[in-house]
Amino acid sequence: MPRTLLTGANSFVGAHVINSLIAAGHDVVGTVRRENLIDEILALHSEGKEKLELIVVKNYADESVWDHVFGTYRFDYIIHVAAPLVDIPGKTDYDRDFLTPNVENNLALLRSAKRVAPTVKSVAVTGSVNASTTGSPEELLAGPITNETWLPITREQAREVNNNYISYCSGKKEGELALWDFVKAEKPHFSVTVFLPALIFGPPLQPIKDLKSSLNYSTNVIYSFFNGTHETIPATSFPSFVDVRDLADAHVKALTTPAAANRRLLVNGKPMTYTSLVHALAAAVPELEGRLPADSGEDTKVTPARIEAEADNELLGLKFRTVEETMADTARRILELEKLEKTRGAHRSRAPLVIRHKIDRREYSSAIRFSTTNVFESLSKLYKSDKFADMALRCGSREFNAHRAIVCTQSPFFERAVTGGCAVYTLTRHTDLTLRDIVCRLVQRSIHQDGVWDKMQPVMGKHSNFAVGVMHYMRAEKLRLPQGR
Ligand SMILES: NC(=O)c1ccc[n+]([C@@H]2O[C@H](COP(=O)([O-])OP(=O)(O)OC[C@H]3O[C@@H](n4cnc5c(N)ncnc54)[C@H](OP(=O)(O)O)[C@@H]3O)[C@@H](O)[C@H]2O)c1
Repeated sequence: MPRTLLTGANSFVGAHVINSLIAAGHDVVGTVRRENLIDEILALHSEGKEKLELIVVKNYADESVWDHVFGTYRFDYIIHVAAPLVDIPGKTDYDRDFLTPNVENNLALLRSAKRVAPTVKSVAVTGSVNASTTGSPEELLAGPITNETWLPITREQAREVNNNYISYCSGKKEGELALWDFVKAEKPHFSVTVFLPALIFGPPLQPIKDLKSSLNYSTNVIYSFFNGTHETIPATSFPSFVDVRDLADAHVKALTTPAAANRRLLVNGKPMTYTSLVHALAAAVPELEGRLPADSGEDTKVTPARIEAEADNELLGLKFRTVEETMADTARRILELEKLEKTRGAHRSRAPLVIRHKIDRREYSSAIRFSTTNVFESLSKLYKSDKFADMALRCGSREFNAHRAIVCTQSPFFERAVTGGCAVYTLTRHTDLTLRDIVCRLVQRSIHQDGVWDKMQPVMGKHSNFAVGVMHYMRAEKLRLPQGR
């Protein structure tokens, strides 16, 4: 079983690289800079979590930390994704925030791997097409972008401009140049492949605190099309994209493709405009009706990118998703996250009830009634009402509201799903036996044993709550309720 080190396991790209590596049979050790991300990432990859381990590396430029990592694990491959993005709040200094981390992080990792990790065979790195071009009309008109094109901006020019986008482009270029200088001078025992993707889109599967402030840069481009940012379609920032899942697969394939060794590879490289993305969203995601920006004509001025990626794509035998598929999956995942956020928001906005006024006789008796309520009676009321529901179970085309407090305290399965950020749990026809068992046991314990089932019968079909949902699901699937405890 090959073991692969992945940097930036909490990133948008990293989440998909984890999936591709696990699907290809690798054991994965992912690095993050903050420990509090570990449980969340494991929950988001719960299906493959026995193949995923996460460790904290606070400073990627510290060679001694990598020495320790390589001394602890025996790696076959490395995928290096982590690098500063263009939009990190407070990161505005070219040298400190872009040039130094790009160059020093790449070098520390490679130097240490050369000294301490003799079993590493190859390294795949997420570079950027921005190491070759800013995408300005002048640069795009100057000729096609090939894997020999380099950004025509020097360190000095970038430092002088000190604009985050230019700093990002220059940082990617200088980081990559440092890496190739290392390969040339040091001739390590492993090969290196650098990918040069344009904008990367696809479903965001990484930990996201909230959609407004912590969505990764490129997903935010798509979300801005339907979160009210634009009334009309804005001008395209860079006229080409690749699906994150295709890019992740490309990284994994490159590790074992000798022809990819020590090469820069363009990937996909098809031209696009924001207008084409918005039209694809409109066609593929009917739920977005009324939320998308109107045509603006801005994109008639876009200079198309000529990215000569065909040979590189063929080299890895890659097949690419269509723009409709990418847009549909991106938007659906964002809509799911929106729903989750609303549920969480409703949960959080419940302010503590502070009773300051003098309580009158009537209120006193109702408060006393609450304090002496039978717990089963309360539960059965909760089952019958979906007013306070804070999660949903989707069975086929129907959705049933449920209560986390009930579902999660009785089932570690649902607890894990909810902790992993799942607000809508889809019970599919192929749901495994364990889930069926859990569902059956839940129904049995909560309905049969507590005598709530009798009370439930009359309200079947009228109220959508968890227990009713489960019953519908079980009927549809022709599942029998087990007898006894
Ligand atoms: N998204 C795109 O459209 C796009 C296009 C072309 C290339 N890329 C490249 O793809 C890679 C991943 O980007 P992404 O879109 O997945 O972005 P992302 O979700 O924002 O992730 C960025 C990752 O890099 C880490 N990072 C940032 N600054 C760092 C530093 N100074 N030292 C160590 N780690 C640092 C972040 O860790 P923290 O969370 O701890 O900050 C995070 O793990 C990057 O190399 C980027 O240049 C992205």
